[in-house]
Amino acid sequence: FSSRAISMQGASFIEKMKKTDRNIVVFYGSQTGTAEGFSNRLVKDARDYGMKGMVADPKEYDMSELCHLPEITNSLAVFCMATYGEGEPTDNAQDFYNWMQSTGNSLEGVHFAVFGLGNKTYEQFNTIGIYTDQRLAELGATRVFDLGIGDENNNMEEDFISWKQRFWPAVCEFFGVQATEEECSSRQYELVVHHNISMNEVYTGELDCLMSFQIQKLPFDANNPFLAPVIVNRKLNKGRSRHLMHLELDISGSNISYNAGDHVAVYPANDVSLVNRLGERLGVNLDTVITLKNLDVDSSKMYPFPCPTTYRTALTHYLDITSLPHSNVLVELAQYASDLKEQETIRKMDCSSAEGKALYHSWVLDAERDILTVLEDLPSLHPPMDHLCELLPRLQARYYSIASSAKVHPTSIHICAAVVEYTTKTGRVFKGVATNWLKNKVITDSCLRPSVPMYVRKSQFRLPFTASKPVVMIGPGTGIAPFMGFIQERAWLKEQGEEVGETILYFGCRHRNEDFLYQEELQEFEKAGVLTQLNVAFSRDQRHKVYVQHLLKKNKEYLWKLIHFSNVHIYVCGDAHNMARDVKATFHAIAEEVGELSHAEAVDYFKQLTISGHYSQDVWS
Ligand code: FAD
Ligand code: 2AM
Repeated sequence: FSSRAISMQGASFIEKMKKTDRNIVVFYGSQTGTAEGFSNRLVKDARDYGMKGMVADPKEYDMSELCHLPEITNSLAVFCMATYGEGEPTDNAQDFYNWMQSTGNSLEGVHFAVFGLGNKTYEQFNTIGIYTDQRLAELGATRVFDLGIGDENNNMEEDFISWKQRFWPAVCEFFGVQATEEECSSRQYELVVHHNISMNEVYTGELDCLMSFQIQKLPFDANNPFLAPVIVNRKLNKGRSRHLMHLELDISGSNISYNAGDHVAVYPANDVSLVNRLGERLGVNLDTVITLKNLDVDSSKMYPFPCPTTYRTALTHYLDITSLPHSNVLVELAQYASDLKEQETIRKMDCSSAEGKALYHSWVLDAERDILTVLEDLPSLHPPMDHLCELLPRLQARYYSIASSAKVHPTSIHICAAVVEYTTKTGRVFKGVATNWLKNKVITDSCLRPSVPMYVRKSQFRLPFTASKPVVMIGPGTGIAPFMGFIQERAWLKEQGEEVGETILYFGCRHRNEDFLYQEELQEFEKAGVLTQLNVAFSRDQRHKVYVQHLLKKNKEYLWKLIHFSNVHIYVCGDAHNMARDVKATFHAIAEEVGELSHAEAVDYFKQLTISGHYSQDVWS
């Protein structure tokens, strides 16, 4: 293979490092911003050791240049690599991953370290971090420090901190350098307040191009989302305790295409009242127009979010104000607590000691204190709003499995979602950002139609190319979403005169009379012979729980026949925590009982089915 087997039209990071006198480059494979945040923190730390680093998005650079890194003295490449979905690289690391797989270039003399980010809920835990670490070594690069493994399901922050606490001494020892005593400023951006600026020059929530929400221009993508009008927003369940909803987004005129199984990404906005409370607590006029400008003029990222903008827009559209703050954020804010006792308490939470970790755990994680609660519970803490804005992570798009088929609904995209709302241990009501924002997209008689900035993310979750092949779909709760699209598509194919194979659904919900989502539609499909089996597990209609996997087990002989002899495609969608794992275990048990395989053989059998695309999951935690 040639190193350019997959060509990347990237810029030269080597040139940039040489020009700006840097010896450390931290690449990130990031989908939701965590790996990027960790990379920023490593570059900040580097200054304490007299080194100069830069953060780099592998998508922007020619990664085949890695072999030239040894031209820079004491150079080091660090990789913060997240694993996404079913063991995939993040979108921005896909080309780099392909390059690693295909290159034969020697990386001798390159020094590297990897921190992997993953979630143990998923089977393919941290595969990309592990692969990057192994592959770079295989290509001849020298590992300066052991692979770090972060688990989002447990406490990624702690994993990262304990890794970097050991990583830096190892780097210092490797290069024979010592930590400097100098206090480095913790600020990465400087505040510019605009007094006489035309509001046409001020970002109001756009992601990339100013005014792109007022004047919508094709093509639409992650940086240029389409503002899709919400044309349907209805509650799917009965009862007041929960709100499960069906939304339809109008994509006519957008040129957006999709396939059943794809995901729609929406950019939500934070709750207005939370934003106002933050402004009040910090005594800031939220309509102040600001720019946060990178102090490092050579950085490829000039602003932490689109600027100039107002504090109100930043806190509403660009910053994550509801997830629990990382310990580094608290520690940086500590300096602004006028009460020394409060200051000391916050500083302790840097997680560098067992006591600090325990404190952070109980005070932030267990008590689920978001940044507003932190500020309200520490009355002497008065950080400047701009520093807070610099530290908060970016608000992320949320993905939803598209609940429609483009064959039947070419101009709309359907969503089936559960509104997140629960009471924390300390009695605070937590409201999920996107689902509550979507719930409030109420259609009224006025001509002002609510809309949603969105784009489509392609997925691998696909119906078999040949319609005559049988499919088994397992999707309890909102896991039904992509299957509404699949079933619509199979019905459409049938209407076109195609031979359509068996279409079997396993759905699960609490009560027949409460949350049997899409009951009428599904029963119609069954009547029409499109759904050849509609199996529903009502978990709470009797004393013992009945779940989809219990129904699978009941049907084991028939299912095994489909699996072993009929080339069936199995799809699982919904909860990654327990359901997907339990369903997989049930299939293993069926293979053991009916197929007479040993446990190891059964596990391997389903691994092979996954590889061949006959067992697919679309799951989230
Ligand atoms: P957030 O503000 O992001 O808050 C959610 C967080 O709250 C959770 O991470 C968890 O930490 C916490 N939390 C939630 N409930 C509780 C609880 N009871 N107790 C304690 N903590 C809790 N969702 C759907 O509804 N339908 C779909 O079709 C769908 N498809 C998806 C497809 C993909 C590929 C992915 C990655 C996710 C999908 N999701 C789907 C999930 C969706 O993206 C959002 O994560 C979900 O809607 C919550 O978003 P939110 O902004 O309302 O909540
Ligand atoms: P429960 O809430 O009564 O426990 C959709 O959420 C459906 O999935 C509900 O009926 C829920 O039941 C059920 N469910 C919960 N845990 C599950 C698991 N591990 N496997 C399959 N279904 C599950």
